[in-house]
Amino acid sequence: MDYLNLIKEAKLAMQNSYSPYSNFAVGAALITKKGKVYKGCNIENASYGATNCAERTALFSAIANGESEIEAMAIVSSGGEFTYPCGICRQVMAELMPNGKLIFSNDEKEYKVMTIDEILPYSFTKEDIR
Ligand code: THU
Repeated sequence: MDYLNLIKEAKLAMQNSYSPYSNFAVGAALITKKGKVYKGCNIENASYGATNCAERTALFSAIANGESEIEAMAIVSSGGEFTYPCGICRQVMAELMPNGKLIFSNDEKEYKVMTIDEILPYSFTKEDIR
């Protein structure tokens, strides 16, 4: 699957966003090395801190289904601009998809490809706790 198709999947995932508090919908779709797609959206809560971002929803779903090799993740939002992951999601990505590519897309149908290392340099990882 190419990046444009993965972006389409992320847009589909965004339709399921549960975001009555922020009204900011986010969609993410990842593809494994074997070609399976897992989608995620942001899921908010009246207790705001219990909110789960779209990126972690997609990633946790993949891990919960036994996946370990993530090739790439596309991310879109209702804001229409490139939307970059929050700090918590970056940390989770560094752990669970360290070599995965990130594809950010905006409403102009442009996209950018970045690495986890670019968005979270000098990260704290399991290597540091040995
Ligand atoms: N959000 C995401 O799902 N992913 C991001 O990359 C940034 C923020 C969500 C969390 C919350 O539901 C809403 O966007 C506003 O912060």
